[in-house]
Amino acid sequence: MKDKVHILAIESSCDDTSAAVLENLKVKSNIISSQNVHQKYGGVVPELASRDHEKNIGWLVDLSLKEAGIDLKEIDAIAVTQGPGLLGSLIVGVNFAKSLAMAIERPIIAVNHMEAHVLAHFIDDPRIHQGLRFPFLALTVSGGHTQLYLWESDVQYTILGQTLDDAAGEAFDKIAKLLGLPYPGGPMIDRLSQKGNAGKFSFPHPKVEDFHFSFSGLKTAVLYFLQDKTKDDPDFISRNLHDIAASVQKTIVDILLSEVEKAIAHTGIRQWVICGGVSANSLLRSEALLLAQKTKTEVFMLPLEYTTDNAAMIGAAAWFKYERGLFSPLSFAAKARL
Ligand code: KG4
Ligand code: ZN
Repeated sequence: MKDKVHILAIESSCDDTSAAVLENLKVKSNIISSQNVHQKYGGVVPELASRDHEKNIGWLVDLSLKEAGIDLKEIDAIAVTQGPGLLGSLIVGVNFAKSLAMAIERPIIAVNHMEAHVLAHFIDDPRIHQGLRFPFLALTVSGGHTQLYLWESDVQYTILGQTLDDAAGEAFDKIAKLLGLPYPGGPMIDRLSQKGNAGKFSFPHPKVEDFHFSFSGLKTAVLYFLQDKTKDDPDFISRNLHDIAASVQKTIVDILLSEVEKAIAHTGIRQWVICGGVSANSLLRSEALLLAQKTKTEVFMLPLEYTTDNAAMIGAAAWFKYERGLFSPLSFAAKARL
C-alpha cells in the first residue's frame, strides 16, 4: 500500500457542485460552487440543478487539481457521490467521474453522501479535533435527512432512529418560507434569531418513539399560529420576525438534542458528532456543547466549510474504502435513495 494516496473527489448530489483533492485524509483543495438559480423559486429545481452541475463540473475539477498542485496522472482513485440526492444531479457527477477514471485508468469509489458527512470528522486538519474514535453516536441533520446513528467502525453502523416525516433542514426551510424568507431558510432563521427572544412563543414537541424525530407537526403548528395572528394584525410577522425565528429555532434544536441525550443515556457512548448542513446552526452548536458538558461526553462539530455539502468529505469517506480495497465496478449507478 502506498503511504501517500491521492484521491480526486466529486460531489453533485443537490445544489452545490464540488471537487476536492486529498492526500490521504489531508485536504489539498476543496472547491465548492453553490447554485443561486434556485433562490427565486423558493427551493431546488432539479432540472436547473442538473444543468448547472453539467456547466460547472469541468472547471471545478480542473481548478481543484491546480489548487492542490497535483497532476491528474498522480491521482490514485476517483471518488464520487453515488447517492442519496437528486438523481439528475448525481448522474452528472457519476458520469463525469466514470469517464475520468476510464481515461486515466484508475479505480472509482462510489460514496454514500450521508456516510461522508459523518466520516468528514476524520479529515486531517488542524481545525478539526483529532480525538474521535469508534464507537460514537452521530446525528446527521441536512435538508433531506435527520438520523441518529451508532457508528461501530468505518464500515459498520446502525440507525437508532430517524425522522418520520420532514428533515430538520426541511423544517427550517419550509417554516422560513411561511415567514416569507428566501431559500435556503435555515441560515436566514439562524441569522434572524441572533436578535430574537427564543422564549417569546412556544411550539409543540412531537410525541414519537425514542431516538426518532418528526417535524411536520411543528410546520403545521407554525402555519396555524401565523394564520391566527395575522388575521387581525397583518404586520404581525414583520414586527415579530426575530422572536418567531428564535422560538422556532429553539424548538427544532431542543427536539434534536433531547433524542441525542436519550441515546447517550441508553448506549453509554461518550463521544458524538453532529453533521450535515444544519450542523452549521449556531444555536445547535452552542446547545450541543452544553449538553456535552452536562452529560460529561465529548461532541465533535466541523468547521463550516465541511458541514454543508462539499467534496472533501466524499474524499475522506473514499480514503477509508481505498484502504480496504473497496472499489466500485464501472457499472454502478447513481441512486436517489441509498
Ligand atoms: O447537508 P446540506 O448542505 O445539503 C443536504 O444534503 O441537504 O444541508 C442543507 C440544509 C438546508 O436545509 C439548510 O437550510 C440547512 O442545511 N442549513 C441550516 C444552516 N445552514 C444550512 N439550517 C439551520 N441553520 C443554519 N445555519
Ligand atoms: Zn449533505
